[in-house]
Amino acid sequence: MRYSDEIIEEVRSRNDIVDVVGQYVHLQKKGANYFGLCPFHNEKSGSFSVSGHKQMYYCFGCGAGGNVITFLMKYDNLTFTEAVKQLADRAGIKLPDEDDSPAAKAMRDKRQILLDINKEAAKYYYYQLRGRNGQKGMEYFRGRKLTDETMQHFGLGYSNITSDDLVKHLKSLGYEDSQIIDAGLASYDEKYGTHDKFWNRVMFPIQDASQKVIGFGGRVLGDGKPKYLNSPETLIFDKSRNLFGLNYAKNSRAGYMIICEGYMDVIAMHQAGFTMAVASLGTAFTTGQAMILKRYTDEVILSYDSDEAGTKAALRGIGILKEAGLKGKVLDLRPHKDPDEFIKNEGKEAFEERIRNAESTFFFEVRVMESHRNLADPEDKTEFYRDIARKLCEFEEPLERENYTEAVAARYNIAIADLKGLVASYAGRAGMVTPARRPESGIQSKKKPEDGARKNQRLLLTWLTDEPDIYPKVAAWVTPDDFSDDLYRKVATEVFTGMANGNFSPAAILDHFTEEEQYGQVAEMFNTNLVDIETKDQRRKAFRDIILGVKQAGYDRQKKELKPDDPDYLNKTIQGKKALEKLAHANISPDD
Ligand code: CTP
Ligand code: MN
Repeated sequence: MRYSDEIIEEVRSRNDIVDVVGQYVHLQKKGANYFGLCPFHNEKSGSFSVSGHKQMYYCFGCGAGGNVITFLMKYDNLTFTEAVKQLADRAGIKLPDEDDSPAAKAMRDKRQILLDINKEAAKYYYYQLRGRNGQKGMEYFRGRKLTDETMQHFGLGYSNITSDDLVKHLKSLGYEDSQIIDAGLASYDEKYGTHDKFWNRVMFPIQDASQKVIGFGGRVLGDGKPKYLNSPETLIFDKSRNLFGLNYAKNSRAGYMIICEGYMDVIAMHQAGFTMAVASLGTAFTTGQAMILKRYTDEVILSYDSDEAGTKAALRGIGILKEAGLKGKVLDLRPHKDPDEFIKNEGKEAFEERIRNAESTFFFEVRVMESHRNLADPEDKTEFYRDIARKLCEFEEPLERENYTEAVAARYNIAIADLKGLVASYAGRAGMVTPARRPESGIQSKKKPEDGARKNQRLLLTWLTDEPDIYPKVAAWVTPDDFSDDLYRKVATEVFTGMANGNFSPAAILDHFTEEEQYGQVAEMFNTNLVDIETKDQRRKAFRDIILGVKQAGYDRQKKELKPDDPDYLNKTIQGKKALEKLAHANISPDD
């Protein structure tokens, strides 16, 4: 559904970003803006800013940014339409009936029906567990040391021993066989007709980040097979983009998430207070899941079973975390199998201790490599050192690589100079450069290295936003075409048009983009700090430098786009050069 610009504008203007964000982040006023701890990365000092004037937020630490709609999308993992709906509700705005294409409407209705059915099923299982039929299920959960409160918190349930109970119930509510089958809760065959998929199992409802039930896992009460049965993938249940427990874990402010294998592990951890735990859904951990975790944290602790399959899964998981740009650690729960058993046997303090001692993924990988070598054999030992050197080359940050080189050399008693030599030789082969340079700050910034041309363009856009009065002065010299890359040009065009028509709104511009990364980049264009402007002279100089910088980049771009064999090449190049020279002598000022 695409709402009209007017409606979106109304929803946005009736939901002040400071109020909305203030419900999630503790904000304090500093100057014209509000600041708080960024909910999108882990930090101790507040670099997250919210501007009432611009109706935007921007994090100077991680580069996340956007307007009130994109904030909700990111925070609650919502689609654009869902976020608009939520904000419309909040402001008491009635959205127009969604009357675009019939196909789109049918699809929406279908999704909604499947959500409704899953919700009804969850309620049904929930009451079954607590009723006369559910005694066995209740005993099972109690035997696994779950409290009533935990069972309620996770909406745990029970599916009856009869095999068409749920189908009957859902049909009595007016749903059709085909809808129940599409929801993944029933199947059809000639002998039994439409019958329940789950029976005589304890039921774990699987919720998405916004609490909606999208599927189920069901466990046998004893040792039968299969141990777990899960809803199939449906229109609303994508196993590669959801995680069990995320609806709660996303609000844990631990600063990291724990990913484990099982539903029971998540529940046991949450019960013991470790509310940052999530699990994949009976399938392997995926890149899609890593990207979702990345919305909430930058560090993930892997907690896989302490056996060979678990080790393999951890190695795979490490690769996925690296790819997603997440820091990783590995939890060692030996001699126990999984978090559930560990906590039951050792208690939560011991578990906390294991979290504190979680191993870096690097040392975990080194330990696995070591287990494949016989260090008493000189040849094998050399190979092991080579393995280590190759692994060290995977650190792109030189300082980090150096720190790990030193640490691993000390742990395995390798002469540091030798190991460094080995690393350098592999690094050389991989085409890496090695000068050690300290990163600018401790946090992992998503921002690209500063590019002077873009910075001038950002400064100009920020300045225009802060002081719309200078627009005529800017427009006298600069056009949107001077902006050097596509994203900047697109934003500049909207800014200039908006200013010329007197209806400029930076928050509205954001709605014209769809990629999360672009939100941050666009927000950055409106939140670039002008420093050291106190006197009128400084102000004039800054303005002039920025205009000249933007023009220069504009000409550079035009030149690059011209081909040398273009008949106009020489002409245009000379013209550009002349124009720049003329500009250098012009009186460029933001004030009269
Ligand atoms: N799983 C599954 N289908 C199976 C077995 C397992 O989908 N036949 C998934 C479930 O999501 C389960 C997870 O894999 O939670 C881990 O399985 P496993 O380690 O075998 O079970 P535990 O989580 O330890 O379950 P329990 O403690 O209930 O025995
Ligand atoms: Mn278990």
